[in-house]
Amino acid sequence: MIGKISAFVFGLAVLSASAGEVSLDKDLLPLFQRSCGTCHAPDSGIRGAIKGGAFFNEKKDLLGKVGGPIVAGKPEESGLVKVLAQEVKFGKKELVMPPPKSDAPAFTAEELEKVKAWIKAGAKDN
Ligand code: HEC
Repeated sequence: MIGKISAFVFGLAVLSASAGEVSLDKDLLPLFQRSCGTCHAPDSGIRGAIKGGAFFNEKKDLLGKVGGPIVAGKPEESGLVKVLAQEVKFGKKELVMPPPKSDAPAFTAEELEKVKAWIKAGAKDN
């Protein structure tokens, strides 16, 4: 009986771990390309306007932000999360991204949760 229960609990843990794993490649990159990549890509034509090359179009762009606006394990301290949540602060700057006047859609609450889950799990190259 105990064996059955623990097998069940173990099974649940495995299930939820695999269901909860957010992939940077599969889950997040397409969202960043959709909402940010039209402007934040080297070939967008507005490179000069975006200081320091704040690109979001490739996996390496996002991984390059770990340790900066992405604080691995701590979504609540990650500046990128604040920008996506439209909390308009990024460092000392006030920003709302994507700019409200643009055609690019903002992240939905559900998409934002995925970003947070990925950061919480260590912002890994997955
Ligand atoms: C319509 C074009 C456009 C879209 C779409 C867009 N941005 Fe921006 N973004 C800009 C411009 C232009 C700046 C520079 C603004 C400034 O420095 O005041 C900027 C600046 C930033 C900065 C600050 C970096 C810096 O250069 O100082 C961050 C971070 C940022 N954007 C994140 C995002 C994210 C994340 C998304 C997607 C959710 C996004 N942006 C979508 C145009 C865009």
